[in-house]
Amino acid sequence: MVALLAAAATGCAGNGNGLDANGNPVTPGAGGATPLTADFQSIQDNVFTPICTKCHIGGGAPEGLQLDAANSYAMLVGVPSAEQPAVMRVAPGAPANSYIIRKLQGTAGISGGQMPLGGPYLPQSTIDVIAQWITAGAPKPAAAMSLGASVKAVQHFNVATTSPANGTIASMALPQIVVAFNGDIDSTLLNNTTVTLARTDAAQSMQAMPPPMPVTTTVPAGNPSAILITPRTPLTNGTYRVTLQGSLANMNAQALGTDYSFTFTVDVLK
Ligand code: HEC
Repeated sequence: MVALLAAAATGCAGNGNGLDANGNPVTPGAGGATPLTADFQSIQDNVFTPICTKCHIGGGAPEGLQLDAANSYAMLVGVPSAEQPAVMRVAPGAPANSYIIRKLQGTAGISGGQMPLGGPYLPQSTIDVIAQWITAGAPKPAAAMSLGASVKAVQHFNVATTSPANGTIASMALPQIVVAFNGDIDSTLLNNTTVTLARTDAAQSMQAMPPPMPVTTTVPAGNPSAILITPRTPLTNGTYRVTLQGSLANMNAQALGTDYSFTFTVDVLK
């Protein structure tokens, strides 16, 4: 299954790019497979896409952590873990303090299970490669950086992805909302009028315009094209809307232009 997915991901039938059925890296160079190296693209292609997206994909991804290629970087780097918000999923430069490494190793003190949940677990050599990328500062893949530059030239500044995704239900505690853009955001424009969170369901419906809730909006360390919206008090069950004002802009002063909103529901079993 894993080998099949890996082959599909590269379009090279039979190469088994990445890890074999036991989670061991396939010998580099065998049939043109991309070897696992300590850069993000290689980790995406060899680990996240073939193994983790079995579960970590789409609006219902566990803990809101989507690990498909379009979302993984924005959801990982500098973003607090949902299970233990004091620990970042990936803390650039600090693998031992990165929750993803603890979860992959099954370190004592993690919440929930070792990843991939139910196994087979990754060999230490593979975890070491991910740790090496984090030690190096968790850089974006070179391709994405140059793509980012050309995208800036031809495309408007826009939202690339959000967690939770629009219209989805978060069934686990939600310490923060992640919004990723297609370019680096001008963080000086972030404030409590440009980024708002409001509760919109029945509990608040007496008011036509629900009041914004107190939040802190920050740019995650090492992840300048994303923002974290952290409610000052934990979100209780209900439906919420995030609104980003059209005046938010990238570092080239290109603005969103129009307001961007998305809604989601928190429904955690008590
Ligand atoms: C079989 C499904 C499944 C697979 C495969 C899987 N996960 Fe998970 N993952 C979960 C579930 C469910 C949770 C939440 C419960 C838990 O932690 O046990 C979770 C939680 C996590 C968390 C904690 C997120 C947070 O914000 O607290 C991380 C990090 C994580 N997974 C990483 C990975 C990585 C990396 C892989 C691939 C190597 C992976 N997972 C593969 C199901 C899976």
